Amino acid sequence: MKITGHTKICAVIGDPIEHSLSPVMHNAALQHLGLDVIYVAFRVRGEALEDAVKGVRSLNIYGLNVTMPHKTAIIKYLDEVDPIAKDIESVNTVLNVNGKLIGFNTDGIGALNALRYNHADPKGRRVLILGAGGAAKAIAYQIAASNAEKIVIINRTGEKAKELAKFLRKRFKVKIMGKQLSTITLRKALKETDILINATSVGMRPYNDQTLIDKQWLRRDMTVMDIVYDPVETKLLIDAKNIGAKVINGIDMLLYQGAESFKIWFRVDPPIDVMRKAIIEELERRTGNAS
Ligand SMILES: NC(=O)c1ccc[n+]([C@@H]2O[C@H](COP(=O)([O-])OP(=O)(O)OC[C@H]3O[C@@H](n4cnc5c(N)ncnc54)[C@H](OP(=O)(O)O)[C@@H]3O)[C@@H](O)[C@H]2O)c1
Repeated sequence: MKITGHTKICAVIGDPIEHSLSPVMHNAALQHLGLDVIYVAFRVRGEALEDAVKGVRSLNIYGLNVTMPHKTAIIKYLDEVDPIAKDIESVNTVLNVNGKLIGFNTDGIGALNALRYNHADPKGRRVLILGAGGAAKAIAYQIAASNAEKIVIINRTGEKAKELAKFLRKRFKVKIMGKQLSTITLRKALKETDILINATSVGMRPYNDQTLIDKQWLRRDMTVMDIVYDPVETKLLIDAKNIGAKVINGIDMLLYQGAESFKIWFRVDPPIDVMRKAIIEELERRTGNAS
């Protein structure tokens, strides 16, 4: 593309940031649609966040993605925050409207859309979420809002799972429980699960052989989603696929959260297939093998 004085800039900020797939994904979509915008990554350390946000205003950066460790800390520097992002205290998308910065969170809706587009709508289903960190909170919020029949949250630090369940019970009528991770709680919960979501970092490269779930506990009538996207096929997904369960990998959440950010900035539907191809090619380039 030709970069001129008119070219707008979007960016992702985080620390570390070099591994981010967002530039590849968004630039592929921008180029496909012929938009005069480029998307870059900036490493911003914690102590530099306030200055970075001032820079977004002064340089008129059009749209921003925010990743670890700034999703909560950025809120106090924004002019407006969407009610859901405010409630879960996590912003991953910022829109700059003539210097007014508005924050949103698209992680939860990204995960929900990943389920829906894979014909696994959580409405009326029993959902087990592993993890109670930032991503788990955003996902659990949207699943609770979409009338799941029951949600069980299991986390290594049991207190965090219980707190998250309590937080959600105050807002939604859905049956929600938080539990400490153990063989017994996992096994029991899995017997009553239609949709299993790994929202922990377990299984991430270089620990590709790790999973919290013994494959004997999986059933072929379950949907198993892993939000870890590197590797694309985690041990959990390989086990689930081997018994014939429906599997959804972390690229789908990444794609659909990116798509929601794109819609907030440009008010158009981005080309999902183009974005998916760009991500897979980039992962292949990095590893020599996407899986
Ligand atoms: N696909 C996507 O679009 C997408 C989006 C966001 C995040 N992610 C991925 O999701 C994962 C979680 O991200 P996050 O932002 O939620 O991180 P986070 O806030 O740091 O939470 C990490 C979660 O993983 C659990 N955990 C970590 N190591 C564990 C272990 N060895 N055994 C059991 N549980 C363990 C933590 O449990 P404790 O609370 O006990 O520490 C916590 O629940 C990361 O791999 C991230 O890359 C993917």
